[in-house]
Parts: sequence; C-alpha cells; structure tokens
Amino acid sequence: MAYTLEAFAKDAHDILIRDPSPMGREEIARKLEALLAEDGFIAKYCEGQVPPGRTVLYEDPKLGFQILRHAMVADHAGVPHDHGKSWAVYGQAVKHTDMTVWKRLDDGTEAGKAKLEKDKSYRLTRGKAGVYNGADIHSIAYPAGAIFIRVTGTDLEKVERLRYDTDKGTVVAERRASMQNAAA
Ligand SMILES: [Fe+2]
Repeated sequence: MAYTLEAFAKDAHDILIRDPSPMGREEIARKLEALLAEDGFIAKYCEGQVPPGRTVLYEDPKLGFQILRHAMVADHAGVPHDHGKSWAVYGQAVKHTDMTVWKRLDDGTEAGKAKLEKDKSYRLTRGKAGVYNGADIHSIAYPAGAIFIRVTGTDLEKVERLRYDTDKGTVVAERRASMQNAAA
C-alpha cells in the first residue's frame, strides 16, 4: 500500500509520543525517506503548480510539530545556523540540497563572537533525510527548483536560534522567518 502524508504524520506523532529523544527523530527521518520514495507523494505535493516558498502541510494539534514543504525558486546558499531548543528533519523531494555541518571552536564566552570550522559536507538527493538537533550547526545550499520536506519539532519561526557569520566571526540570536525564498 502506498505510504501517504497522512500515514507519515500519524507515524511521526506515534514515534514522538513513544520516544521524544534524538533517537525518535532518526526514526522519523527513516519514515520521511520512505515517504519521499513514493511517486504518489511526489506527484501530489511536489510536481505541477507547487506554491513557492514555505507551506505548512501538517501541524500536529497535540505535539505542535510541523511538516513543511519548501519549494525554492532561486539558487541560494544559506548561513550556518542552529535550531535553538527545537530540531528539524530535512528530506529531499526534488533536485538536491548540499548540507554542511560546522564545529564551533571558541568557548562562547565572548558575546557576539564565534569561530566555526567546517566539519563535513554531503548532498541530500531525493529520498535522503537527515536530523539536525537543537545545537547542531549547519548550513544549506540548493539550486532553483529544489523542493524539500522538513519536519520541525515546533514552529521554528517562534524559536530563538543562533545565526553565524563565518567571515566576520560573529553570532546573533534571533527569531526569524525560515527559508521563504519565494520572491527572490
Ligand atoms: Fe536548519
């Protein structure tokens, strides 16, 4: 039987009830990979007239997690950031996302300053998903036309998160709109 968005949302809900730890999020990533492998899901949500930018496909009324579709209209390379007290699972639906994971080298004692070093980079292609827990620092780059599905522990636009500038060696804490890329 085909795996659907509704079945995935129920699975994610049940997993988070049973195991709200990072291990549960890894289970969600594997389920998201199964969903993204479904041609029926891709045809329904990621082909044809797909609204650009960020669309909430599902919000869990009890746990508050969200399933989002990000349809990107322009090439983009983002800055390193974390997910504050929340988390996200990223899974690729169309084209690819290049993910870079960063290590923080300083001890955080100097306000507004941060020194980062690239740890690893890899490409998410259709059907591949990864988990990015609260303090994990990462940045993404993608081409125009890329579409990915994110599951976030809560509405990340309401969560204070750290955003880094590796050229200036700075860090700011902010709440911000996340990956709209609709009008670019
Ligand atoms: Fe992120």
